[in-house]
Amino acid sequence: MRYLITGGAGFIGANFVHYLVEHTDAHVTVLDKFTYAASAASLADLPGNRLTVVRGDICDEGLVDSLTRSCHAVVHFAAESHNDNSLEDPSPFVRSNLVGTYTLLEAVRRHAVRFHHVSTDEVFGDLDLDDSTRFTEQTPYNPSSPYSSTKAGSDLLVRAWVRSFGVTATLSNCSNNYGPFQHVEKFIPRQITNLIDGVPPRLYGSGRNVRDWIHTGDHSRAVMAILEKGVSGETYLIGADGEQDNLSVVRELLRIFGRSEDWFEHVADRPGHDLRYAIDSSKLRRELGWEPGHHDFREGLEDTVRWYREHEEWWRPQKAAAEARYRSQEVAR
Ligand code: NAD
Ligand code: TYD
Repeated sequence: MRYLITGGAGFIGANFVHYLVEHTDAHVTVLDKFTYAASAASLADLPGNRLTVVRGDICDEGLVDSLTRSCHAVVHFAAESHNDNSLEDPSPFVRSNLVGTYTLLEAVRRHAVRFHHVSTDEVFGDLDLDDSTRFTEQTPYNPSSPYSSTKAGSDLLVRAWVRSFGVTATLSNCSNNYGPFQHVEKFIPRQITNLIDGVPPRLYGSGRNVRDWIHTGDHSRAVMAILEKGVSGETYLIGADGEQDNLSVVRELLRIFGRSEDWFEHVADRPGHDLRYAIDSSKLRRELGWEPGHHDFREGLEDTVRWYREHEEWWRPQKAAAEARYRSQEVAR
């Protein structure tokens, strides 16, 4: 089996590439533009005979065509992925998330290659804090930000290419991931690396916003289950019943670092900040037999803190630039 993994040098893509190398005998080709969010170091310890890394853009039609022609399946992780950046400059989001997905779809259509599209629960918009409902595959799309709206558009392109052109494709919408190799701009690694540097965590607004956390290893296993058993045209929601408000996550990190529970700073809220995400993943569990392996968020967070403590050489080069971006965004707000 030969897989083409787009965005394989990013957080979730790199974890999936590790998963494929460890659990299958497939050959993996990574296509990644190596934006600020990518890290060659995330793939550096993988055996050269199992992995080919191509530096290139998913909007490059000729490159995408030649790589797609020689693989059995494309798993599409590549995207501009950070809401805060999308509020500052939406243009790379429109290009990579929409034009990039379109370019890949045309290639898999030409060469009749299986496609899996990795997406987010943010396409559904948000839920009220005092509402007990969760997103399902039937929830209408209602995205809030340039990031989530371009992901929603990319999902709709995939569905249209299945229906109009008979492309064989599945989709998944996953909740917030945490684990190793996540860029320091994202909530959990930002606060962990701040704490390592003796800087207090930064909490947007009230800190009552809720995210549904899943370990990235469980996301990888779910994508594999969909590749092996999923039905073309179907969407599967991926989530591990991991709802936490942001303040609780910060307090848990403060406990791990031995700091007092109030040692954090409130900063200006994100414009249009989604209140709550929550996933009902019963379809994936019922139809494909997937179950999360990580049930204890505290334990997962402790493992993640340990990973960042032990891999400072991986994150340190990104930290100053990420914090400089945040300082300019805070001024703009
Ligand atoms: P990431 O930002 O860490 O990685 C994205 C990767 O895509 C980077 O390596 C980047 O260089 C690459 N890339 C961006 N534009 C490209 C282009 N035009 N051509 C080629 N490569 C390009 O993102 P992530 O958190 O790993 O997310 C991966 C996917 O999973 C995204 O599609 C995202 O929408 C989705 N997702 C993320 C989460 C989450 O919690 N992070 C949750 C659900 C779904
Ligand atoms: P993030 O990791 O950016 O993921 P998303 O916006 O896709 O959910 O943020 C997760 C939550 O943490 C979100 O509610 C915004 C909040 N947040 C903070 O409170 N402080 C921070 O420094 C960051 C980056 C995020």
